[in-house]
Amino acid sequence: MPDTPALDAATCLGEIIRNRHSERGPCDASQTVGAADLEAILEAGRWAPTPHNMQNYEIVVIDDPSTLAAVGRLQSAGSGDFLKENYAQLSFSEEELMRKGTGLLATMFPPSWRTPDAQLDTSGEPATLEATTRSCPMVLIVLYDPHRRAPASEGDFLGIIGLGCLMQNMWLMAQARGIGMQIMSVFGGEGVEDGLRSLLLIPSHLRIAFACRLGHQAGEPRPQLRVRRPIDRFVHRNVYAYRGAS
Ligand SMILES: Cc1cc2nc3c(=O)[nH]c(=O)nc-3n(C[C@H](O)[C@H](O)[C@H](O)COP(=O)(O)O)c2cc1C
Repeated sequence: MPDTPALDAATCLGEIIRNRHSERGPCDASQTVGAADLEAILEAGRWAPTPHNMQNYEIVVIDDPSTLAAVGRLQSAGSGDFLKENYAQLSFSEEELMRKGTGLLATMFPPSWRTPDAQLDTSGEPATLEATTRSCPMVLIVLYDPHRRAPASEGDFLGIIGLGCLMQNMWLMAQARGIGMQIMSVFGGEGVEDGLRSLLLIPSHLRIAFACRLGHQAGEPRPQLRVRRPIDRFVHRNVYAYRGAS
């Protein structure tokens, strides 16, 4: 065990970072996200670094059950591009995922998405977000404010990085307090962003940066295979070492 407070804190932070994960399972509908937990998560976000300290975000907290239900009724147009690119990055066994060190397991997705020529299913009812919001007590919609722009950053590239810092700070605090978090990129997708804009009265100059759901996980923790590339596969010492395309 580390014997100095600084090392204790560093070990603790390392564990939170290592254990932070996407919580994609159902939430325990009987447990809300408490006021102290929400405040700690927002406070962690507040201290995130942003370029030029522009704090280029606004956050809508949704915890009113009828608003959550209305969000769940929004329809997602889906994306053919997502299906194609998603397929290219899938692994079809745990061994393959561990070897690659990047991407996701195919079994996370519906069987119809696991073929090279996967098509959007346009038959039947349009897909709603109900499955993503079901049983979940809280959704955060993080809005990007392009008016709060760092100087001399083409395409506001730096501003977008700052939003990632905000996401990570909040995610680590949620993890540390035992609250599950899942990012839901579909909320910024075609159709959904407009629906959220009118439902939540979001001004037209703000864009959805990301949305996430927060909640206590229902039942026992589910084991997940989480992989990363080893350090020596992405770190280059003093000079970039070309290791072939991978
Ligand atoms: C910008 C961004 C967008 C993401 N979008 C989604 C998403 O739409 N749905 C989802 O389940 N996870 C999403 N994720 C989570 C990643 O898939 C996840 O972080 C990655 O697979 C590593 O798994 P881990 O979070 O469990 O470590 C997103 C993450 C980031 C940073």
